[in-house]
Amino acid sequence: MTILAIETSCDETSVAIVRDGKDILSNVLLSQERVHGRFGGVVPELASRQHLEVLDDLVIKAVKKASVGWKEIRGIAVTYGPGLIGALLVGVSYAKALAYALDIPLLGVNHLEGHLFAPLFEYPEIKFPTVALIVSGGHTHLFLVKKVGIYKLLGKTRDDAAGEALDKGARMMGLGFPGGPILDQLSSQGGTPKIDFPRAYLGPDSLDFSFSGVKTALRDYLGKNVYSKEELENQLPDLASSFLQAVVDVLVEKGLQAAKRSGVSQIVVGGGVSANSLLRKQMFQKGSEERIDPFFPSPFLSTDNAGMVGLVGCYLFQKGIYSSFDLNPKANLSLSEENLAF
Ligand code: KG4
Ligand code: ZN
Repeated sequence: MTILAIETSCDETSVAIVRDGKDILSNVLLSQERVHGRFGGVVPELASRQHLEVLDDLVIKAVKKASVGWKEIRGIAVTYGPGLIGALLVGVSYAKALAYALDIPLLGVNHLEGHLFAPLFEYPEIKFPTVALIVSGGHTHLFLVKKVGIYKLLGKTRDDAAGEALDKGARMMGLGFPGGPILDQLSSQGGTPKIDFPRAYLGPDSLDFSFSGVKTALRDYLGKNVYSKEELENQLPDLASSFLQAVVDVLVEKGLQAAKRSGVSQIVVGGGVSANSLLRKQMFQKGSEERIDPFFPSPFLSTDNAGMVGLVGCYLFQKGIYSSFDLNPKANLSLSEENLAF
């Protein structure tokens, strides 16, 4: 079964053609980094407008690149939450119109399930139950995945998502947007994590996260120790690696704790921050000490893309599941919730 998938939940417009849940024939993407960069964060209204402007072209590109005919496409899968409501609305409305015009079924896909499917697709050896850490600009969630479709929330952030904290921290350091990949690069270029920023573990039993404290600590540090642009520039590699280290330590510690407590020997990591090299390195190092195997998607499938939406779409379509045309986007859709679209 060949399907077309659409992702517009935040600031990436993406369209993919996916066959049988096994082949991503095309996965085209247009990032809005340049549109939002000068504001230091995603501006929801601009994101919706930008999706609207480019979606049509990307659909045509994805179909051409996959070398499929329109008649081969048997379903349209679209992210219907969680995300920015206006941005989701563009994708969902477009998907409805296309499914109606082609007279094929429509399916609403949970974005978080997409992030989870990316590593599941690349590593068929993953066994269930497993623990999953979804860590992105909007989410930092730990799930027990009993099997595909059955998720138990084990913990989540009480304030900022890890990616959001990295982006905001980078902004305080005068870096661009999104800050996560820039901090990644800076710390890989030889920065030493010598500033001891706080790690919030929230008590021995908690699998929740909190990243607001580390942001405040960074702001205080900058206010007390950095008086000029030159000083900031000199300290940037160390600042970046110290800040990143504080965030990564908590992600690795809680992720491995969740696996140990759930009695599983695997952890699946997905979402934009899973592209981070320090997180990958440390999860593998500490994981091997604890005999827990981590699985990370390749970088292109870590950040937002429609390929991952198409993988979920194929899986559900093949089970005969689809949505009605009154599908509505849900900004706060969660993963443990029953799939209300079906
Ligand atoms: O999954 P994603 O593309 O969008 C959301 O669903 O939020 O994640 C975006 C987040 C941003 O906060 C970005 O800074 C972060 O992922 N990110 C990274 C890296 N690449 C993307 N953070 C750290 N290191 C990276 N290499
Ligand atoms: Zn995402």
